[in-house]
Amino acid sequence: MSPRSIAILGSTGSIGVSTLDLLEKSGAEVRIEALAAGRNVARLAEQALRWRPSMTVVADESCHAELRERLAGSGLETAAGEAAVVAAAESAGWVMAAIVGAAGLRPTLAAARKGVTIALANKESLVCAGPALLAASKVAGGVVVPVDSEHSAIFQVLQPDCAHRVKRLILTASGGPFRTWSKAQMQAATPEQAVAHPNWSMGAKISVDSATMMNKGLEMIEASYLFATPEPKVDVIVHPQSVIHSLVEYQDGSTLAQLGPPDMRAPIACALAWPDRLPWPAPGLDLAQVATLTFEAPDPDRFPALRIARTALRMGGGAPAALNAANEVGVAAFLDRRIGFLDIADTVERTLERMDRDGDLAPSQNDPIDAAFVVDGRARQVASQLLQSLTLVN
Ligand SMILES: NC(=O)c1ccc[n+]([C@@H]2O[C@H](COP(=O)([O-])OP(=O)(O)OC[C@H]3O[C@@H](n4cnc5c(N)ncnc54)[C@H](OP(=O)(O)O)[C@@H]3O)[C@@H](O)[C@H]2O)c1
Repeated sequence: MSPRSIAILGSTGSIGVSTLDLLEKSGAEVRIEALAAGRNVARLAEQALRWRPSMTVVADESCHAELRERLAGSGLETAAGEAAVVAAAESAGWVMAAIVGAAGLRPTLAAARKGVTIALANKESLVCAGPALLAASKVAGGVVVPVDSEHSAIFQVLQPDCAHRVKRLILTASGGPFRTWSKAQMQAATPEQAVAHPNWSMGAKISVDSATMMNKGLEMIEASYLFATPEPKVDVIVHPQSVIHSLVEYQDGSTLAQLGPPDMRAPIACALAWPDRLPWPAPGLDLAQVATLTFEAPDPDRFPALRIARTALRMGGGAPAALNAANEVGVAAFLDRRIGFLDIADTVERTLERMDRDGDLAPSQNDPIDAAFVVDGRARQVASQLLQSLTLVN
């Protein structure tokens, strides 16, 4: 792999930390141009001292003074605010987009417009404005390599010349920590139980999304956009061992899968070296140890998020962006213990219904990115109002 310049957006999070760990372990020759994070200045400063980026950026301006203090005397440059995160996204030839939530959209779009290689973990930006983001990257001569393990799997086994021969993309889902729980147990679930994922170690938001299976819903939308595949051809199967990361079924009866241990460093390595392969001491897959791979259909009654996300994908227009924003509001309220676990998906569904009724989800004639932000803002408003009435009842 040739040496390259790298920016890591969301460096203090689970994907950011895994990316730096992979770089350390692989000994890849890279230059870190920028590290950017939200608020965790203690971890950001530690990373900056180790990797000596040209720019260390904290999004929350109220944290800048502490960052400067922690890096005093190091000779390292710092910056703060959203514009600085965008500048970080434009600073390198390979950008790890690993900010959580719609907050990642502007910086990811900036990288796309620069025509760089984007390692895309921030699925929410694709859900909000996938077609516009992908088009911007294409026009600028860039590449988007998915980091989500499912999409990385499909990216690796999808034969470009045979894309028109695809019958189905099959996303695997672990089923999350509540796979076998009753609805009554789920409604009483605590944030601690929801973030305790059986196979993957991830940030809090995506862990809750895994527990509701909204994560898989967002991933269906992501897959549809990334691989230009219509909604009916994107399927989900629950596979509790998380060894098969996803599959592509072709019209000739062949189904190709990608396998590996549940370790995000593998899809990150794929994105880092693509189209080459990164040599690093990767944990291997011991199939004899795994012994059994099992599969089951998702339960639409206990996990309505999948159906809701599918509906949003079918509706198009602003529906996916609204789904994402309402979900972010719902997850934050659940993590704050303001609502019950099942209220998350319920709030998302009611937000979509209300916005649809009010004509807020119709395709817009405006710039698609501006339109996505308008829908995002409105969905946050509606979802917050709905939650307020819920918390008053509780
Ligand atoms: N973790 C996984 O295994 C995994 C797998 C597939 C896809 N993904 C996707 O990857 C993304 C990151 O997930 P994660 O699990 O790494 O989340 P995480 O652990 O919560 O980390 C989120 C990162 O985003 C930063 N951040 C938050 N708001 C920001 C802002 N406004 N500007 C700049 N940085 C901001 C956070 O900074 P501070 O912590 O400093 O505030 C942190 O570095 C998500 O979109 C997720 O869906 C994750």
